[in-house]
Amino acid sequence: MEVIIRPDAEAAADLTARLVQKALQDKPRLVLGLATGRTMESVYRRLVEMHCSEKLDFSGVATFNLDEYVGLASENSDSYRHYMERNLFQHVNLRPSNVHLPDGIAVDLDAECVRYEQAIRDSGGIDLQLLGIGSDGHIGFNEPLSALQSRTRVKALTPATIEQNAWHFSVPEKMPRRALTMGVGTILECRRCILLATGEAKAEIIAAAVEGPITSMISASALQLHPHCTIIVDQPAGGCLRGADYYRWIFDNEPEWEPYRGARQG
Ligand code: GLP
Repeated sequence: MEVIIRPDAEAAADLTARLVQKALQDKPRLVLGLATGRTMESVYRRLVEMHCSEKLDFSGVATFNLDEYVGLASENSDSYRHYMERNLFQHVNLRPSNVHLPDGIAVDLDAECVRYEQAIRDSGGIDLQLLGIGSDGHIGFNEPLSALQSRTRVKALTPATIEQNAWHFSVPEKMPRRALTMGVGTILECRRCILLATGEAKAEIIAAAVEGPITSMISASALQLHPHCTIIVDQPAGGCLRGADYYRWIFDNEPEWEPYRGARQG
């Protein structure tokens, strides 16, 4: 695991987008795992900019989103599909047939989860998975006590998650109580993952996930098991990290990060 601390949220999102850009340039038929949430919006904004001004080409890319709410159709403006359309899909040249999200209104939800896992396998597996983190440490919607080997399934959301996300909904009381989500085990199979967290409110959970013990109480801590995982935070979200000086030293000195040191800072 590597941790990168950038001075502010824009610089953190910019670095994330530049790593996606590099992965896409290295492999035009990239299988890209996508996340939702407010934090990711600036990453998608940057990718759209790169598509428009630098001709970043998504025509060969396949995408798989982490999760979708149960009961929300793709046309529903509160669905994650709709979020993705608004923030990325309708602005870049992704082929609609290459875009995948779990179907929140599938008649048989368990069969839908099996289908989704198979679709990921059929694509050759996820090359790069983007992740955010919930304040309870969830990745996707893997709430506390999600098995570290869990697969795509229906998960009941915690009251804390419902409270945290309800304000996004046109009618907050109607926020679904369940979601389809890739499992922790599904996520750990991706070839590379990048978790982005910004803002002081994420500082404690980031420190617990990165520097604390691996526990199913904090799904993101399972990323410590991943062979190629990059955690990107802004200064406030990195505020509780005990190893911050070391992480900064790595970013400032390791040749791998040289091309990114001059990343624009908002
Ligand atoms: C939702 C998503 C998660 C995401 C989280 C963070 O719960 N299911 O995948 O990590 O939001 O949201 P935000 O970026 O708004 O803090």
